[in-house]
Amino acid sequence: MKIRYDVPQKKCVMRELKTFHFRTYGCQMNELDSEIMEGQLLSRGLNKVENEKEADLLIFNTCSIRDLAERKVMGKLGQLGRGKKRAIIGVTGCMAMAKKDSLFRKFPHLDFVVGTNNITDLNTVIDEVLYSEKQVFKTDDKYEENLDYLVAHRENKLKAHVSIIRGCDKFCTYCVVPYTRGQEVSRPYKDIVEECKQLVDKGYKEVTLLGQNVNSYGKDQPEWNCLFHDLLYHLDKIPGLSRVRFMTSHPIDITRELMYGIRDLKSSCNLVHFPIQAGSDRILKKMHRIYTKQQYLEKVAMLKEIIPNVSLGTDIIVGFPTETEEEFMETYNVFKDIRYSVAFLYTYSPRKGTPAMRWKDDIPEEVKEDRLQRLMSLYNDISKQERSEMLGETLEVLVDKISKDKNRLRGRTRCWKKVVFEGDPNLIGKEVPIKIHSMSHQTLIGDLVQKEALSLV
Ligand code: SAH
Ligand code: SF4
Ligand code: F3S
Repeated sequence: MKIRYDVPQKKCVMRELKTFHFRTYGCQMNELDSEIMEGQLLSRGLNKVENEKEADLLIFNTCSIRDLAERKVMGKLGQLGRGKKRAIIGVTGCMAMAKKDSLFRKFPHLDFVVGTNNITDLNTVIDEVLYSEKQVFKTDDKYEENLDYLVAHRENKLKAHVSIIRGCDKFCTYCVVPYTRGQEVSRPYKDIVEECKQLVDKGYKEVTLLGQNVNSYGKDQPEWNCLFHDLLYHLDKIPGLSRVRFMTSHPIDITRELMYGIRDLKSSCNLVHFPIQAGSDRILKKMHRIYTKQQYLEKVAMLKEIIPNVSLGTDIIVGFPTETEEEFMETYNVFKDIRYSVAFLYTYSPRKGTPAMRWKDDIPEEVKEDRLQRLMSLYNDISKQERSEMLGETLEVLVDKISKDKNRLRGRTRCWKKVVFEGDPNLIGKEVPIKIHSMSHQTLIGDLVQKEALSLV
């Protein structure tokens, strides 16, 4: 336990905390960690407030993936230091791991830092801060499987994120995650199944299984005899769990068994997010992605052959050190051939402590930006084309909520396409067939039809 002081013997008068507010940055795993921490604070008797100015406790659950993500938090923390300090302020998440107690030097008004492996200790750390009125940090490198996921407080009552594996063992040369989240630790499958059952009992229809690499699930615990595809089979047996999504899949670990599972299980959605990152073998090697373009394309061919109507997703980094225009065009052309349905596109951002830091960040920002824009425009064209191909189709939509324009309902298809239609708000939470008649920017528009008309896309 890393605490910077000895707890004083004399009892101090503790400040009373009544309210808290979270600001969450980064990926779904951070969102889920915030939900768990919120649950811990609620069970301590605190109330959640939407307005951070009303909070007695303000927590920043941070991300380190790119420089921009860190700068946003740093700017906000700096601002808070300039005003009169009211709340107890804490930093959790990946930046807490990347910067640890050095954050106290930069932000003397910060009260605590809690790392990704110490979420369970949040209330204890807050008590230490209140008791001692000193800065406290707890950032263990190793994750102990003692996190109570069931305490999570979720705002969404229909769809839930469920963690199945923490950490990452892949060590791509550009990435901070293996350092900020530690090594891979699978969560016992019985606990995952139990959590999903409880969610269904509460009315949840969809879960997204989370892991930096869900395909590694269970490999660290061979005695469980439960790999990722086995887990999907277990979850498919839960009555009432309509949709199971998962992300992210490292291409190297996608197996035939998994593809058969996705094809055969009624709950598994046919959207596979498996990032290529780059299309040139030289860059892939430098990134330590451990596959070649050819090997990746073979997996794509296999996915398309085995799973009818499969949708593919990717992440891509442009402007990796030494990437030439020709190498970028290889990425561009792979994108064009595969026609990804979902893509997260980034410019390379050098991260302290990663192996890629030893190479000069030599691609000028405007070149990176230009490559990004070209890819984005290709992605937009492909998405538009994909939507227009769905005109006239009848798709199964899980109705989420009332749409922004208030007159319609909004939902998603099994492959993550956004759909709006006119209907009674009591359809929220139900899966309904919608016949698509038109489209707008990023959205399909349709009408409610009879169940028999469904074409399963
Ligand atoms: N585990 C997932 C991705 C986790 S991070 C996977 O391996 O696919 C999400 C995405 O952020 C990565 O896929 C990558 O595209 C991007 N990313 C990670 N480090 C980055 C960096 N230093 N600069 C730019 N993008 C980065
Ligand atoms: Fe980062 Fe690579 Fe691990 Fe993904 S697989 S989290 S990109 S190190
Ligand atoms: Fe997620 Fe950012 Fe950490 S993307 S794992 S919160 S570095």
